[in-house]
Amino acid sequence: MPTRVRKAVFPVAGLGTRLLPATKTIPKEMITIVDRPLIQYAVDEAREAGIEQLIFVTGRGKSALVDYFDVGFELEATLRDKGKSLDVLDPSNARFGEVVSVRQQVPLGLGHAVWCARDIVGDEPFAVLLPDELMFGQPGCLAQMVEAYDKVGGNLVAALEVPESETHKYGVIDPGASDGRLTEIKGLVEKPAPGTAPSNLMLPGRYILQPEVMRALDAQEKGAGGEIQLTDAMAKLIGQQPLHAFRFEGERYDCGGADGFVIANIAMALKRQDVGPAVKAFLSTAKARGAV
Ligand code: G1P
Repeated sequence: MPTRVRKAVFPVAGLGTRLLPATKTIPKEMITIVDRPLIQYAVDEAREAGIEQLIFVTGRGKSALVDYFDVGFELEATLRDKGKSLDVLDPSNARFGEVVSVRQQVPLGLGHAVWCARDIVGDEPFAVLLPDELMFGQPGCLAQMVEAYDKVGGNLVAALEVPESETHKYGVIDPGASDGRLTEIKGLVEKPAPGTAPSNLMLPGRYILQPEVMRALDAQEKGAGGEIQLTDAMAKLIGQQPLHAFRFEGERYDCGGADGFVIANIAMALKRQDVGPAVKAFLSTAKARGAV
């Protein structure tokens, strides 16, 4: 059995420019999907997969993210005085020592963000979750990946098919042999030029990686967009360690921009028993009016 994955890195230093003006003062990851900040979904997914340590790679203006997982003493006291339940706060209350944060002082790329957590990760496998990508599955994406990882070990990345016209926006896999939901990876390209992608299987931002990837990142080599890319560091491990793509079963919502955020809000609201019926009724009326 491979070494258990206990730590997860959340790269959350980005400026979220596609969501300005909101992100002028609110970290993108704190914008809500229904009534929870986006980060809560990724953290819930990690905890469900057995992750015990949440490592946030943050930057200036992102303190609200770390504060969110702290205890809200005044808030709790006020709720208690009013006889209100504190249960709603449960997911945001971290266990003692569960949250660790480190700064990425300069935006040098995703690979660099992950590398900033190298000393906290140490010499064990770890997960990386990009919170912009809201993954909905039962169980969640990372839990599905951990189950597959227990069988194959090595490095594992989630993979999803996208239309060929979109591959230039992502990390893309050159696939080898498949076995069920697992596919061997022969090569990886970050943001291939249109028409040059080796497949339409993209990386939607969920990874289980061996610590050796940090050694590959030590070189700080720049790739697509002049940034230090995680995709390139993983590609360097091909031939040295197993690297598989895992086609996860579920839905993916890209919350990097306003359209994706609105769509994710509607999709997640419809799944909820409390707010779902009202949203569904609104959509039906809008459809009847011809607005949809
Ligand atoms: C990053 C990764 C890319 C991945 C994408 C998923 O790109 O570098 O491989 O496909 O996230 O959202 P970014 O969106 O930061 O440019």
